[in-house]
Amino acid sequence: MKRARTFSAMLVVTLFLVVFYMTVHLETTLTVRALKNVSKSKDFTTLSAVVHIVTVSNDLRQMIPKNGAYWNRLLYSAMQSLENGENPRRKEPHWSVCREENRELLKLNVHDFDSYPALIQEFLRGLNCKSPPLLIDQPYKCVGAVRENKTLLFAIKSSPRNFERRQAVRETWGREGVYQGGMRVRLVFVMGNTAPDDPDLSVLLSFEAKHYEDILQWDFNESLLNLTLKMNLFLQWTVKNCPSLSFVFSGDDDVFINTPDLIKYTESLDASKASQLYAGQIISTASPLRNPRSKYFIPHSFYNGPYAPYAGGGGFLFSGALLKPLFSVSQILPLFPIDDVYIGMLMKALGIPPESHGGFRTFDVRQQDRENICVHKNNLLIHQRLPHEIEKMWKGINSPLLTC
Ligand SMILES: *[C@@H]1O[C@H](CO)[C@@H](O)[C@H](O)[C@H]1NC(C)=O
Ligand SMILES: *[C@@H]1O[C@H](CO)[C@@H](O)[C@H](O)[C@H]1NC(C)=O
Ligand SMILES: *[C@@H]1O[C@H](CO)[C@@H](O)[C@H](O)[C@H]1NC(C)=O
Repeated sequence: MKRARTFSAMLVVTLFLVVFYMTVHLETTLTVRALKNVSKSKDFTTLSAVVHIVTVSNDLRQMIPKNGAYWNRLLYSAMQSLENGENPRRKEPHWSVCREENRELLKLNVHDFDSYPALIQEFLRGLNCKSPPLLIDQPYKCVGAVRENKTLLFAIKSSPRNFERRQAVRETWGREGVYQGGMRVRLVFVMGNTAPDDPDLSVLLSFEAKHYEDILQWDFNESLLNLTLKMNLFLQWTVKNCPSLSFVFSGDDDVFINTPDLIKYTESLDASKASQLYAGQIISTASPLRNPRSKYFIPHSFYNGPYAPYAGGGGFLFSGALLKPLFSVSQILPLFPIDDVYIGMLMKALGIPPESHGGFRTFDVRQQDRENICVHKNNLLIHQRLPHEIEKMWKGINSPLLTC
């Protein structure tokens, strides 16, 4: 009896490994094949289908000087390999061996590595770490909506301990379903793992994931400087699992969204804008902060150049049609410590101009308007709000008695 059980357990594990290897292999060969096509095919349609795998706009090249800063060097070397017909993912080390612990080597790349703040040093050690194991998946999130071309996905950055915030989102603006105009709304929360020293929430989280079917979790440490990794993983997941979305909203779990108006906004766009949208509160002339005490400090020897215009990471909206191109350029641009700046760079690499919309209030509204329901009704996004404030404002803007 016991032997039979052991045997079937082994069988299951073996089958799992076989399937797993097949998928891994499939993914890499697919990319390689796509790249081979570029060099071989003279057929324009095949070429343009894969071209966004390989091109980085001249705009981005002109903005980012080719000089000694580490990130700049990595970028130009990645573009060079690509021009030589190499697959950018080929060099990616496995998750278990990707960390660079050799201090001498790090100092060779970044001469003043020792003077970097500990967090940026940690970021640099993990710069080549891009494929953590997926712990909680939602493979069926978009099944059934595949042929639907009217779906808006809310992709909300969360972390395991933020249960109350997620619950407020589910009960209010993030509720899944079909809204006016036939727009279908889907919701996922994207997260990493708690640090080993923190309380273990994995049992609660897997219960929550089974119950609500809206949790995506990868096995990397939640931290500010890992948000770009989170974004990359989300792009990869969505390209695979939700390839035909109309729009994606990416934002924090403490924002208030006026979902009906956000949908109305998407419907007001003409077809060409709707397929090239990158909208939010646009920070158009930003440069790296050079004060080491700043939360967003970027050392001179790490990155040199201005930032591309970018939408504040509290929440922004983009076209589902951009998912594949975004994922492709995200394979070329090295990880950057600040996630919304990074998205701005990806968009610039694709030649997509940001669209400034006054309804995205990622830096909140005036203090005296914080309780004002009409102000919430008249905007698309307000950052940042507590769960009970979100519930209250959501009831408020949906009240039939509201007169603004
Ligand atoms: C959605 O599909 C319908 C029918 O196939 C088509 O007429 C419409 O243009 C599509 N809309 C978008 C935004 O792709
Ligand atoms: C996460 O960070 C902690 C320190 O905060 C470290 O001990 C642990 O090894 C890290 N986990 C991974 C998977 O790197
Ligand atoms: C990002 O996550 C990895 C994997 O858990 C961890 O080793 C690393 O310390 C994290 N990076 C930062 C900058 O916190």
